[in-house]
This record gives sequence, structure tokens and C-alpha cells, in this order.
Amino acid sequence: MLPTYSMRAIVVALLLCASTALSNSNSTYLNPILPGFHPDPSCIFVPEVNHTFFCATSSFSLFPGIPIYASKDLAHWRLASHAISRPEQLPDLALTNGSTSGVWAPTIRYRDGTFYITSTLVFDDFRDNNASRFDNFIVHSKDPFSSSSWSDPVHFPFVGIDTSLFWDEDGATYFQGASPTWIKKGIYHSKIDIHTGALSGPLVNLWNGTGGNSPEGPHIYRKDGWYYLSIAEGGTGLPHEENVARSRSLDGPYGSYVGNPILTNANTSAYFQTVGHADIFQDAKGQWWAVALATRSGPEYTVYPMGRETILTPAVWPEGGWPRLSRVKGEMTAHQLPPTEIIERGEGQLIGERDIVDFTPGTSLPTHFLHWRAPVPENYEVSPPGHDHQLELRSSMLNLTGYDGNTTNHHGGLTFVARRQEDTLFTYSVDLEFSPDAEEQEAGVSIFLTQDHHYDLGLVLLPSANDSEALTMHLRAGGMSLRSTPETLIAMNSTWLGQAITLEIKAFNFTHYSLSAGPTQHAHLMQTIANIGRSLLYH
Ligand SMILES: *[C@@H]1O[C@H](CO)[C@@H](O)[C@H](O)[C@H]1NC(C)=O
Ligand SMILES: *[C@@H]1O[C@H](CO)[C@@H](O)[C@H](O)[C@H]1NC(C)=O
Ligand SMILES: *[C@@H]1O[C@H](CO)[C@@H](O)[C@H](O)[C@H]1NC(C)=O
Ligand SMILES: *[C@@H]1O[C@H](CO)[C@@H](O)[C@H](O)[C@H]1NC(C)=O
Ligand SMILES: *[C@@H]1O[C@H](CO)[C@@H](O)[C@H](O)[C@H]1NC(C)=O
Ligand SMILES: *[C@@H]1O[C@H](CO)[C@@H](O)[C@H](O)[C@H]1NC(C)=O
Ligand SMILES: *[C@@H]1O[C@H](CO)[C@@H](O)[C@H](O)[C@H]1NC(C)=O
Ligand SMILES: *[C@@H]1O[C@H](CO)[C@@H](O)[C@H](O)[C@H]1NC(C)=O
Ligand SMILES: *[C@@H]1O[C@H](CO)[C@@H](O)[C@H](O)[C@H]1NC(C)=O
Ligand SMILES: *[C@@H]1O[C@H](CO)[C@@H](O)[C@H](O)[C@H]1NC(C)=O
Ligand SMILES: *[C@@H]1O[C@H](CO)[C@@H](O)[C@H](O)[C@H]1NC(C)=O
Repeated sequence: MLPTYSMRAIVVALLLCASTALSNSNSTYLNPILPGFHPDPSCIFVPEVNHTFFCATSSFSLFPGIPIYASKDLAHWRLASHAISRPEQLPDLALTNGSTSGVWAPTIRYRDGTFYITSTLVFDDFRDNNASRFDNFIVHSKDPFSSSSWSDPVHFPFVGIDTSLFWDEDGATYFQGASPTWIKKGIYHSKIDIHTGALSGPLVNLWNGTGGNSPEGPHIYRKDGWYYLSIAEGGTGLPHEENVARSRSLDGPYGSYVGNPILTNANTSAYFQTVGHADIFQDAKGQWWAVALATRSGPEYTVYPMGRETILTPAVWPEGGWPRLSRVKGEMTAHQLPPTEIIERGEGQLIGERDIVDFTPGTSLPTHFLHWRAPVPENYEVSPPGHDHQLELRSSMLNLTGYDGNTTNHHGGLTFVARRQEDTLFTYSVDLEFSPDAEEQEAGVSIFLTQDHHYDLGLVLLPSANDSEALTMHLRAGGMSLRSTPETLIAMNSTWLGQAITLEIKAFNFTHYSLSAGPTQHAHLMQTIANIGRSLLYH
């Protein structure tokens, strides 16, 4: 019989992001607009849908996948839906292997009442010359505030990543994509039937970029009689930058802008580094904006515990001229932000909202809670009979390291719920009732970057130090990293037995986390079990 454990989660996040204030005629706002793991953003403004901005970001192995955020004012963003919310949409996500596999770089576009997302399911552990490594697909929806409205994918043949859609003035539909270096480095496009995925024209090589590594993340914009092609170069690390070229003809040739890059923080000492992978859009007043990814790493680029995040920057794009994007900082000044208005529609909470979850009977898991690959639904039950305001979890055989997706898929999934770290300093805690009945059964909390990088604090049943016949409850801190991870193992104070135990993770300064435990009813007995440097998970 499988053991179960229950928990009530209390998550307290210190608000350090997303606020607006008016100063004279200019407005200021804070980056990142989508803090935490929100890489490869793509955003649009849709006047037809109540003057709303929508963004989509990558989700890799997280499930549900491709979060969609909506905003009316560019400062308050609400989780609207997930474009991938049914395991059947991408059954092969369960078979991916390696921490960098999964759903990469979506582009969101709107056309005649329908939203479209193009993205790629990447099997990143496949060999370079293996064309099955990239599964490109399109999903569509008429209601981006509803996860269930997103269609099953239409797959299309392109050996590459970062696919985007563009409709020409005659209505013809094209996708753009980045071909990996080992095939034929560059940006390509083709006419596509978005309902069948069939390509109805040749694959045309539009531009190879300015010579940097990894030309990728292409988007085409039509403006003032020109086709503008904006792409990222340099790879997603420190040399990351955004470059633009233009042509009078969609098929090219594209001429590079002499002022490139139009956006980068390379070779600066800025706190926000790796800026690139941009998408450009215009608001109702005609103000141009761009989103891009960035890491809050500082020039040292040693630790960025929030991963790649989404930043917003004002742009100027004069008629007949080139787009110019403002340099990315934490506090940004823009000529005019749309008036403050908190968006009410959507399935999830506002970014930065205080997060205390007590699993009210009749509710589901909050939509910003995530699994690592598709979950086994039976393993998660909100307020089961006799346990109101608790989440009952059925444990999985696999631990967090959990090998690959295939193994997970064949062994009852990985019981794991998480939320993104969105703040530099925060306190996260879970109240846990756990009654294991066999050696090595464990439940706990984790600072989780990937399967190969995590640090955990758990309650675990192990032989007692003085009597190897008896199993007693222990507190164990330890994990998985490219470096050796210190392990702390202590017998739990026997007076704590039979009580709920609070497990806490606190980012108490900019470089360290503490992991603590104590009986929930007696907060003053909390003990710090381990302190770890954030860099442990990165190197
Ligand atoms: C449009 O926005 C207004 C104001 O926020 C809101 O009352 C209304 O419900 C929205 N309509 C739709 C269709 O979202
Ligand atoms: C996944 O990757 C690991 C490590 O490289 C390897 O041992 C394992 O065989 C792979 N599994 C699959 C299904 O490819
Ligand atoms: C691609 O890689 C997968 C996994 O290693 C393998 O099963 C498949 O046969 C490969 N395909 C080709 C064409 O090499
Ligand atoms: C891209 O590079 C390839 C290989 O060097 C070259 O053959 C091709 O003409 C280039 N494409 C463009 C659009 O410049
Ligand atoms: C950053 O510096 C390197 C080395 O000098 C140079 O090659 C690169 O072009 C610079 N990048 C930018 C965006 O200035
Ligand atoms: C207003 O913002 C613009 C950039 O958008 C900047 O050039 C200008 O100096 C700002 N004015 C004030 C009063 O801050
Ligand atoms: C996936 O797992 C099953 C069951 O463990 C195994 O039979 C199969 O060979 C695995 N497939 C791969 C590609 O490793
Ligand atoms: C053995 O250890 C357990 C806790 O691990 C403790 O409760 C018990 O008193 C110990 N027994 C002896 C004989 O020391
Ligand atoms: C996870 O489980 C695997 C396989 O049982 C084991 O080798 C590994 O040590 C465990 N890792 C952790 C961090 O517990
Ligand atoms: C266990 O907890 C009790 C009650 O707080 C305390 O008096 C005792 O000193 C603790 N024992 C150890 C070994 O820390
Ligand atoms: C954070 O705290 C740890 C442990 O007390 C200390 O070693 C480290 O220097 C501190 N970091 C900063 C930035 O103060």
C-alpha cells in the first residue's frame, strides 16, 4: 500500500515587483514584469479583446505548459490560462529526457478572432543530426482566459526552433523559425496551412543575422512598406542581443540595421544581464514596447535563482525608421503607460500577489502550481474526506532526481507540486502531516531548478542510530547538483512525533537560503537544519 501525506501550504512572498507610480507626465514601472522562470516571452496587444495585452512564455518540462498572462496596463499581469493543460495535447512531453528538453519559445499571435501559439517540443538529448529532436506545433483558442479552449496541436515539419507566425497583406500565412547551426544556421520561413500544418512553399533562408552565435527567436513585423525581421543572437547567455533587418520583399533580401544591436546588456555591469529574445508590439495610444528575457544575475553571472525572466522596455519606432529599444534596468521610465487597471478575468492570480493556499474544499490546485511533466491526477486530492483544507498527496516511487521522463511515465509519475520563485527574498513554508511506514519514505520541500539541480529538506523514516531494528523519523537536508551537496541528517525530536511539522525555505539574503523545521503549533521551536549558498545549484 502506498503511504499518503497531507499538507497545508503557506507561501509568503515579499513583493518586490510590478508597481506603477505616476511622476509628472512620465510613468515608471519595475522590471521584470513576469518575475521568476518566464523565458522567451512573446506578447501582443489585442484591441479587439477589450484592449488587452497577452504574453506567452516557455515552460520546458513544467506542466501545465505555456502560461498565458493578460494585462490591461502592462504593470498588473494575471495568469489567464495555459495553452498546454491536457497531457493528451503533448503525450511525448512525458517521454522527454534531460533538464533542457520540453516546450521551448512560444510565439503568440491574434488573427480574426483567434489566438495562435507556435512552439516546439524539444528532445534535447537526441543527437545533433537527429531531425526528430524538434516537434513544431500550433495550438489555437478563441478564449485565452480558458485553458480548456486551447486546441490540440497541429504539428508541422520544421527542423528547428522558435517558430513564429506572420500573415502577409494578402492573408497568406507564413511561419518563421531558426535552424540550428548543425543543419544550416539561419532564419528560414515558409508558407504554411495552419489548419493542417502542411507547408505550401519552399523553405526560404531569410537572414543569417549579424554574425553572432545562434540566430534565433525570429519575428516579422510589417510597417511603412517594409518587412522588419527581428532576431536574437549570441545565445541566451551573457552575449545575448537583439538585432533587426528589413526588406521591401517578404522573401528578402534583408538588410541589417547599422545601429544593431537594438537591445543588449552585454559588456555592461548592469544587474539585468542576458537581455534578448524580444517581441515588439504597440499599445492603443501608439506607444511601442518590447518584451525580452533577462536574468537578474549582475555582471558576475554566477547566480540567478529566478532563472530567465520577462522584462518590458519602451521602444521608439519612427515612420520609415528603425525600432530603438530602451536599455533594460530595474526601474524603467516610459513616456506614458496605459492607465492603471487591474485585470479581473483569468484562471490564476496576479503576479506578485500574496500567496497563502489552504486548499478550500471544492477547489482545485491553484493554476500557478506546477508539476514536473504531466502529473498522475490521482496522486493529488484537495480536501479529501475528513481532511478539509488539506492537500493529500500519494507518494511516487521516484525521488526528485527521478531519471528521465520515460521512467517517470512508467512508474506512477513524480509526485511534485511547485510554484515559481519570483522574489529575491522570500519565505515559503508548508505544514506537513506525514506517517510513513517503510524505510526511506520521504516527504518534504525543495529548492528545485531541474532534476539534476535541487536541494531538499524532508521528513524521512530511517533506522534509528542506536537500534538498527527500529525505524524512526529523521530530518534530512541534501540534494543533487553538479557539485557535491552537503547532507545533514538528524533524528527528529521525539516530542514532535504525531504533530504537523512546518518545513520552511527562506531566501534570507541575496546569496543564501535557509531550510528549517519545527512543530507547526510551536513556531518558537523552529530549527534551522541547513544553510546553502544559492550558487550550489548553479555550478
Ligand atoms: C472588458 O473590460 C471591462 C472593464 O474591465 C470588464 O468589465 C468587461 O467584463 C470586459 N469584457 C470582456 C469581454 O472581457
Ligand atoms: C536519459 O538520459 C540519461 C542520462 O543521460 C540516460 O542514462 C538515460 O538512458 C536516458 N533515457 C532515455 C529514455 O533516453
Ligand atoms: C533519434 O533519437 C532517438 C532517441 O535516441 C532514437 O530513438 C531515434 O532512432 C533517432 N532517430 C534517428 C533518425 O536517428
Ligand atoms: C546564410 O549562410 C549560408 C552559409 O554560409 C549561405 O549559403 C547563405 O547564402 C546565407 N543566407 C543569407 C540569406 O545570407
Ligand atoms: C562585447 O564585447 C565583446 C568582446 O570585446 C565583443 O566581441 C562584442 O561584440 C561586444 N558585444 C556588444 C553587444 O557590445
Ligand atoms: C520621460 O521619459 C523619457 C523617455 O521615455 C525621457 O527621455 C525623459 O527624460 C523623461 N522625462 C522626465 C521628466 O522624467
Ligand atoms: C521506457 O520504459 C519502459 C518501461 O520501463 C521500457 O520498457 C522502455 O524500453 C523505455 N523506453 C526507452 C526509450 O527507454
Ligand atoms: C534511541 O533513539 C531514539 C530516538 O532516535 C530515542 O527515542 C531512544 O530513547 C534511544 N534509545 C536509547 C536506548 O538510547
Ligand atoms: C534518487 O533515487 C535514485 C535512484 O533510486 C538514487 O540513486 C539517488 O541517490 C536518489 N537521489 C536523491 C537526491 O535522493
Ligand atoms: C526536544 O524537544 C523538547 C520540547 O521542546 C525539548 O525540551 C528537548 O530539549 C528537545 N530535545 C532535544 C534533544 O533537542
Ligand atoms: C548571506 O548569509 C550567509 C550566511 O550567513 C553569508 O555567508 C553571506 O555572506 C551572506 N550574503 C550576503 C550577500 O550578505
